[in-house]
Amino acid sequence: MTKTPLLEVRNLRIEFPTRRGTLVAVDDVSFEIAPGEVLGVVGESGAGKSLTGAAIIGLLEPPGRIAGGEVKLAGLRIDNLPYDEMRKVRGREIGAIFQDPLTSLNPLYTVGQQLVETITTHLHVSAAEARRRAIDLLLATGIPAAERRIDHYPHQFSGGMRQRVVIALALAAEPKLVIADEPTTALDVSIQAQIITLLKRLCRDKRTAVMLITHDMGVIAETADRVAVMYAGRIVEIGPVADVIHRPQHPYTAGLMGSIPSVAQDTERLAQIEGSMPRLTEIPRGCAFHPRCPKTFDRCLQKRPDLMPAGTSQAACWLHDPDAMRAAGREAAYFEGDASLINDFNTVLPVDKVGAATKKKPKYFDGDASQIDHYKTIIRPADEE
Ligand SMILES: Nc1ncnc2c1ncn2[C@@H]1O[C@H](COP(=O)(O)OP(=O)(O)OP(=O)(O)O)[C@@H](O)[C@H]1O
Ligand code: SF4
Ligand SMILES: [Mg+2]
Repeated sequence: MTKTPLLEVRNLRIEFPTRRGTLVAVDDVSFEIAPGEVLGVVGESGAGKSLTGAAIIGLLEPPGRIAGGEVKLAGLRIDNLPYDEMRKVRGREIGAIFQDPLTSLNPLYTVGQQLVETITTHLHVSAAEARRRAIDLLLATGIPAAERRIDHYPHQFSGGMRQRVVIALALAAEPKLVIADEPTTALDVSIQAQIITLLKRLCRDKRTAVMLITHDMGVIAETADRVAVMYAGRIVEIGPVADVIHRPQHPYTAGLMGSIPSVAQDTERLAQIEGSMPRLTEIPRGCAFHPRCPKTFDRCLQKRPDLMPAGTSQAACWLHDPDAMRAAGREAAYFEGDASLINDFNTVLPVDKVGAATKKKPKYFDGDASQIDHYKTIIRPADEE
């Protein structure tokens, strides 16, 4: 990335001490976000997405704690600031938008009072100027009759309108970074797209960096510049959004993407990844995805892969390590040129199921020799060859 990052997260580790030992919920997570860039963060429930966001913003709830790594905002470390200083950074430099608008709004104050207070605290403008800015913000977030609505209480707004108010509040101090954790999940589907579009437009205008946490790949596809895929507390793939969606480099991502009907044509129910993410107490040795991965080979069980270059992305998967592949008697060339191969994730692997679930023949029977080679190279255990 050529742009200087605004947010830098390096080797972040989040632990929960428990009576039965320490649980590692986020493990060695590193990423950057540039000014004006939207980084989408996806992954199954429990992957560590919210904890990562909470750690950046200084709102990790005890006993959870940052046990390693660092977080820098505009070059300055913010993970080790005293509480009061971090509170200032949070108000001024980082805006937060959570799933439930009610957690961000105080029911006892009008939205105007809350906006004006945020603006006067952080931007040092007069109350009259702050009110003018607050009305502009409400208008910008699509709240009609903002001059009147500004004096209403949160409960007088519908869910969608309330989330617009939360966005206005998050942006009121003109933060450099916005962390949005499932910002539209609680809203009606018809309103979700509007809110996301709005967030993206407002942030682009101000060159605000955005970390957008969501389960919804559709939202990511429309909004993010890059996407990080998390699994069991780690980033397993990170790269430009179009590449990650259309040319996933990690088998888990391929499975995730395959489950979006609009991305994977002919999917039917093929793309469900079998099994579930391990509990924190049961993260397997080696690659945490190996019990569910249709491409597992010896190395996957022995050693955990770090992120490594994989096409235009980075993926934590031994399939991209030429040495590991050579040791297994295979070639790592697999993902490098032909994006269609990774899309065969579902077609090639559960061959028995494919036959039953699709009306289509698996591709490698269609006469394309490269597909056969791919099958042999990747799928068959070395000792069968
Ligand atoms: N107070 C806690 N004590 C122990 N474990 C916790 C605690 N809070 C969170 N965890 C664990 O940390 C892991 C990551 O949680 P996190 O909330 O970051 O997941 P997530 O990716 O945001 O999931 P979701 O999509 O469901 O919001 C989960 O396995 C969760 O059980
Ligand atoms: S490292 Fe091995 S188990 Fe993990 S995703 Fe890659 S192939 Fe699958
Ligand atoms: Mg979460």
